[in-house]
Amino acid sequence: ASNKKLLVLPGDGIGPEVVRETLRVVDWMAKKRSVSFDVQEGLVGGAAYDASGTPLTDETLADAVDADAVLFGAVGGPKYDDLPFEKKPERGLLRLRKEMDLFANLRPAMVFASMADNSSLKRDLVAGLDIMILRELTGGVYFCEPRGIEDLPGGGKRGFDTQAYSTPEIERIGRVAFDLARKRRNKVTSVEKANVMMSGVLWRQVMTDLHKREGEGLEYENMYADNCAMQLVRNPKQFDVIVTDNLFGDILSDCAAMLTGSLGMLPSASLGAEDPTTGRRHALYEPVHGSAPDIAGRGIANPIAELLSFAMLLRYSFDMGEDADLVEKAIDNVLSSGLRTADIMQEGKAKVSTGVMTDSILKELDKLVSG
Ligand code: NAD
Ligand code: IPM
Ligand code: MN
Repeated sequence: ASNKKLLVLPGDGIGPEVVRETLRVVDWMAKKRSVSFDVQEGLVGGAAYDASGTPLTDETLADAVDADAVLFGAVGGPKYDDLPFEKKPERGLLRLRKEMDLFANLRPAMVFASMADNSSLKRDLVAGLDIMILRELTGGVYFCEPRGIEDLPGGGKRGFDTQAYSTPEIERIGRVAFDLARKRRNKVTSVEKANVMMSGVLWRQVMTDLHKREGEGLEYENMYADNCAMQLVRNPKQFDVIVTDNLFGDILSDCAAMLTGSLGMLPSASLGAEDPTTGRRHALYEPVHGSAPDIAGRGIANPIAELLSFAMLLRYSFDMGEDADLVEKAIDNVLSSGLRTADIMQEGKAKVSTGVMTDSILKELDKLVSG
């Protein structure tokens, strides 16, 4: 058995379709690079609900905590829309993030050389783009209490959520942002709405202070979230690392996806804190996209977001940067050859299936290691 324990959670909709393709690359790694993973599969989301009445069992959660890394597909679908809140597929993912304490969600948006004409923005605005959205993933309105729906005395109801952030929560995500920026282009943009939200006021204060204390050599700015959304489509190359809260990070990263050509291109890594004694950290790798019920079951989903998430897994959990580069290079080359799945806007080009896209990436991997 290998010492690299990988838990695979395909989930629902196109989740299993793109995870299946990624497992072909895992197999390739074992054959051609002699790096084998101890792969275990589990159920999450609607698939887990169908099997056991809950979107995440305690056993699967324990397996995830025990694994060296988790590869996640996607969860959710119309079939589950009417379930009570706590049974919904999305709760399975949220519970994994919370209980594994995966507070740092890295969502890189990169435009591959041959994809600059596939963005919904003009080529010059996006060619060469490489930004990192760092999303706080275990706090804010996603998890704070109180929340609920209550009856109003005069009839009707009131739905409410709570947005809150504490100093330690803000500082720990801020430190990750600074570390990332130091390995990139040394610029951090912190995004909130300090003009309307008290949690935003504290966020801005804590980040600004942290930058003064620990951000030496880094260019730093504060920006309101609405302006950031606008700036992302006006001039995205002004950014390097964007650090923001759970909800703004969710929205801004879907927005950034279209800079790269498709939501089907965006990977992510959800990381916990490093254990100071063992150096280990919990980690889950998940594409930014969801289960895409509108195209599920047709074999046309873009596998690249999942494949790039696997590349991040190699890099961040196993320090296998060379192998990660290899996977990214193979994808880059295949895209350069003109191949596109149907989600990518491209006039007059044939569209290939999920499987054919992966076939080509595997062939390219073969070429890269033999050439
Ligand atoms: P979605 O990301 O599933 O799909 C949005 C659009 O992008 C759809 O038109 C879809 O076909 C397209 N798309 C997404 N990924 C693609 C890919 N790899 N290849 C080709 N096209 C792709 O978002 P949605 O439709 O708002 O949500 C559908 C379900 O997924 C909901 O239940 C939602 O809660 C869930 N969801 C799950 C995750 C996750 O598991 N991490 C993330 C987002 C949404
Ligand atoms: C994402 C998704 C999730 C989120 C949902 C499915 C819980 O949209 O990973 O971006 O909102 O965080
Ligand atoms: Mn999202």
